[in-house]
Amino acid sequence: MNSEKNEEKNHRVVVSRHGGPEVLQEVQEDLPEPGAGEVRVKVQAAGVSAFDLIYRRWRRLPGSPRVPFTLGEDVVGTVDKLGSAVTSLEPGQTVAGGTWALGVGGGYADFVCLPAGELVPVPPGLDPAEVVCVVVNYLTAHLHLHRIGGVRSGERVLVHGAAGGVGTALLQLGKLAGLEMYGTASRHNHELVSALGATPIDYRTEDFVERIRSLTGDGVDVVIDPVGGARHLWRSYRVLGKGGRLVWLGSAATNKKGLLIGPFSMLIMVFLKLIPDGKQVPTCPTLGTFAKAHNEWYRETLTELLDSLAAGRIKPVVAERMPLAEAARAHEMLERSGHAGKVVLVTGASPLSRP
Ligand SMILES: NC(=O)c1ccc[n+]([C@@H]2O[C@H](COP(=O)([O-])OP(=O)(O)OC[C@H]3O[C@@H](n4cnc5c(N)ncnc54)[C@H](OP(=O)(O)O)[C@@H]3O)[C@@H](O)[C@H]2O)c1
Repeated sequence: MNSEKNEEKNHRVVVSRHGGPEVLQEVQEDLPEPGAGEVRVKVQAAGVSAFDLIYRRWRRLPGSPRVPFTLGEDVVGTVDKLGSAVTSLEPGQTVAGGTWALGVGGGYADFVCLPAGELVPVPPGLDPAEVVCVVVNYLTAHLHLHRIGGVRSGERVLVHGAAGGVGTALLQLGKLAGLEMYGTASRHNHELVSALGATPIDYRTEDFVERIRSLTGDGVDVVIDPVGGARHLWRSYRVLGKGGRLVWLGSAATNKKGLLIGPFSMLIMVFLKLIPDGKQVPTCPTLGTFAKAHNEWYRETLTELLDSLAAGRIKPVVAERMPLAEAARAHEMLERSGHAGKVVLVTGASPLSRP
């Protein structure tokens, strides 16, 4: 037995009570033990998402966990210990995956136990911070562009929140798919949006409906809307051309406008589906719901995306790498908005993961 190993402690960031970023507190405890079918992962990088802010702040959400709980739905790390009945992975292997338990993924930690079926091997030599961007953001982008949006080469697509974590992933996958792209973002992120292959639109000072009309004449084929809100979705619908598809994937505006934005977005989506004008409003499951129901799709697509990362076909935009102990600052940064790409928490576990 290795006594040094036995003394190792787990540092974990918990939501101690619901509230502002200051409620995130670090605790130290014994290492968690993997259950049957699980592996213990020594975390190298964990993603911080807009969803995390919602679970930290609001208590009355369906399925909201009881405090204290640990956020972090996407992780990259090395397999540290196998639970019983795990034959697909080996200790020391680098793996990546998402955890679909609402708000309690557990990635904001040095160690986390996860089901082996939700982890896929990572090709050697990759930066964990870039890998973790792929797990939720690129899978979400892939699902909404291809499975739900059904995009075809040459089609015109408007991506809202184009400089955000999911937005930058949508633009990179959209470029690979041969799309003609437009993206809404704050002015200071326009250079990035252009570099990723889209025509930028300043949503703060321009009316995107008018701008899309003047740029395209007859509208776009697909709008991908991670901003949400009844008025925003209605305006997104209006910029669709004949037979266009509206794909709603989130409510980034929740931070400023509050939780009611979710139900209002759902209501307008139902209403828009009923309009008999040939435009389509597909049902949009979340990545978590879809991945849970389609494990084979999840594993195959994540493996394919990690191969694209290794081959340099995609290059995630990492807004900032922060040590685990600075989780509260990471949340403040997301709440302020204006960043580009994904904020990632890193542990000392990888030489590539230093901030
Ligand atoms: N359905 C799913 O499975 C799924 C999966 C992952 C994420 N999501 C959701 O997708 C959304 C985006 O996530 P994220 O991680 O990309 O967040 P993020 O990195 O914080 O990006 C959000 C972006 O939205 C932009 N934005 C805010 N209000 C806007 C508006 N009115 N018009 C245009 N852009 C606006 C911000 O731009 P500026 O900073 O320039 O203001 C920012 O770039 C969140 O609601 C998240 O919950 C859904």
